[in-house]
Amino acid sequence: MADTLTSIYPIFDKMMSRKDKESLLHQRGIMIWMTGLSGSGKSTVAIGVERELHKRGILCRILDGDNIRTGINSNLGFSEEDRRENIRRIAEIGKLFVDTGIVTIACFVSPTNDLRQMAREIIGEEDFREVYIATPLEECERRDVKGLYARARRGEVKDFTGISAPFEPPAAPDLNLDTSRMTLEEEVKAVVGLIVNN
Ligand code: ADX
Repeated sequence: MADTLTSIYPIFDKMMSRKDKESLLHQRGIMIWMTGLSGSGKSTVAIGVERELHKRGILCRILDGDNIRTGINSNLGFSEEDRRENIRRIAEIGKLFVDTGIVTIACFVSPTNDLRQMAREIIGEEDFREVYIATPLEECERRDVKGLYARARRGEVKDFTGISAPFEPPAAPDLNLDTSRMTLEEEVKAVVGLIVNN
């Protein structure tokens, strides 16, 4: 059996390895998984980190609602089942980036321990770091950047995380950042630290 498999994939047909790609880029692939309420600041922190990494010559890819929920996941809503499929696809796509040696930052509410555990298992413990953007609900609601909290309070958006759907804070994240108590610069520094000390 092993013989058959090796003969189907002769050595010159093999894809280049993750190691080859990491050597090419002079960096290590890793997934920074940001979780937190809508409007907590996940994407803002991620963009700050991306800019800082870029300055340092480190290649980074952000995955967030803007490039995932409008594209590959445009057929998904916010039922439990759809959120699960959302996170599953994001984790599988993220794994491809990590396997290419790219620092990948995923910014999704990913509201339950179960969902985050699934992402961790798909990506692999070694390559997975959890960052909790722990901005309190009251602050997210005060900001209400997209006007969704007001609409959810009026009952116009159903299953809205933090209002009418649950959010479970992660028990032991690698980083816990409350954007109502820290500056963006401090937050970026903390996340970059997690990446470069890796
Ligand atoms: S997740 O729960 O499946 O991880 P995801 O991060 O992709 O959620 O999308 C969350 C974003 O979608 C929010 O920031 C908000 O802008 C928007 N949104 C629309 N409806 C909802 C809802 N019912 N619950 C949470 N977010 C919603």
